[in-house]
Amino acid sequence: MQQIAMAPVACVAIFSLALASLSPAGAIDTPGNNNNDNGVTVAAPRRIPAAAQFLQVHNDARRAVGVAPLAWNATLELDAKRKAEALGVHCKLSPPLKWDNDRFYGGNTFWGPGFQDGAAVAGAWVYERRWYDHGADACAPGEECRSYRQVVWNTTTQLGCARRTCRSSRDTVGVCRYFPPGNYAGVPPY
Ligand SMILES: *[C@@H]1O[C@H](CO)[C@@H](O)[C@H](O)[C@H]1NC(C)=O
Ligand SMILES: *[C@@H]1O[C@H](CO)[C@@H](O)[C@H](O)[C@H]1NC(C)=O
Repeated sequence: MQQIAMAPVACVAIFSLALASLSPAGAIDTPGNNNNDNGVTVAAPRRIPAAAQFLQVHNDARRAVGVAPLAWNATLELDAKRKAEALGVHCKLSPPLKWDNDRFYGGNTFWGPGFQDGAAVAGAWVYERRWYDHGADACAPGEECRSYRQVVWNTTTQLGCARRTCRSSRDTVGVCRYFPPGNYAGVPPY
């Protein structure tokens, strides 16, 4: 009951934070200024570019635990796009949230039903925070939290992500790539 009640609250928080990122480009650290004077009505969160949504949700989660923000990187974005494109063909990911570290890049992947924007994709990883015990640097028994752990990894500095709608359904896959990679075992993220 409590979890069911919390999910929409988390979504609203993510969307309103994503809206804050619409103010002057790069002004991620000045929330509260939602003015948009370019004549475009800012109504639907999904009109915000996916890149801005991915970045905002990551950096809000990092700020919440005192970790420096990530910068967007077009090379990582291209890698994420290729991987999302490949995932979108068969569009099955089990479990739906996964992490990886290939020693060049770190990665998070996502599958979700229907249309999911960048904020929802990154928000699903951040949602795992509830299962992360920082003192023990461990996930709650039987739960996965390592996508969140990569989101807040303190030596990761750059991010590139992509989402896409599956080829044969309306479902969504999403990928983020991280540099330098994180999520090493036995090293706390912050
Ligand atoms: C983006 O990441 C790539 C791969 O790690 C790196 O070589 C490149 O220098 C980065 N670009 C910027 C602008 O930092
Ligand atoms: C990252 O976190 C580790 C573990 O708490 C800490 O030892 C290290 O100094 C931190 N590094 C940075 C760059 O913040």
